[in-house]
Amino acid sequence: MDRMIGVIGGSGIYEIAGLSEASWQRLETPFGAPSDEILTGFLDGIRMAFLPRHGRGHVHTPTTVPYRANIAAMKMIGVTDLVAVSAVGSLREAYAPGDFVVVDQYIDRTFAREKTFFGEGMVGHVPFAHPTCARLSEVCTAAGRGLGLTLHTGGTYVAMEGPQFSTLAESRLYRSWGADVIGMTGMPEAKLAREAELCYACVAMVTDYDCWHPDHDAVDVAQVVATAMKNADKARALVAALPGLLQDGAAPCPCGCSRALDGAIMTAPGK
Ligand code: ADE
Repeated sequence: MDRMIGVIGGSGIYEIAGLSEASWQRLETPFGAPSDEILTGFLDGIRMAFLPRHGRGHVHTPTTVPYRANIAAMKMIGVTDLVAVSAVGSLREAYAPGDFVVVDQYIDRTFAREKTFFGEGMVGHVPFAHPTCARLSEVCTAAGRGLGLTLHTGGTYVAMEGPQFSTLAESRLYRSWGADVIGMTGMPEAKLAREAELCYACVAMVTDYDCWHPDHDAVDVAQVVATAMKNADKARALVAALPGLLQDGAAPCPCGCSRALDGAIMTAPGK
């Protein structure tokens, strides 16, 4: 099966430049409309699909982003490999504003979102010990390294509900848990991508030191937006480098992402 790269862009990324045959498409899913139209086209001969997570003009809050519709739409359009680009705060000194982190673990602290495609009548539990795809994460790492970006491989992302930023006590708590970055949109996106049997990777762009750092002001929106804008070119360049690095799509994902539902369904057939 031909691979198709999907990109869900966060603050600062609202398109992919250089696509051929580019067009914005409106999609409807069984879970409602996604955040916005989806931009599709070709880059380096690979099919690409781009969706602005908050919608153009940033109209959806972290809580109201239609996560299920977004993942369903990506699946319906043919995406096999989904890369999330997200602005995050840093919970450790070594991950500085302007750096990129290829996330490999999550702590889900969100509580006001639909987190599964399953429900009454169809019960399923997908494996999630390794929430991101190692193969796709490697492609993201190679893309960032190739561009000379300061990029850290591996990091634990705390997903918080928001929309308010954390208290100092919370920020210190997450640091004590060993978390590396914090954001408001990483979940349930990663969980839903696994249920949809998509390879999923998250490239987090550090915009601030949250509020724990004694030498930095507590985070505010102006800081997040300024750093995201300053580094948006780097994020866009990373995305543009992905198709050139994607290997032949014939082999199934060695991480098992594309077979996540095998053995995951509890409900008896015909029920
Ligand atoms: N997104 C960017 N910076 C953040 C922070 N410090 N906390 C939560 N989400 C963020």
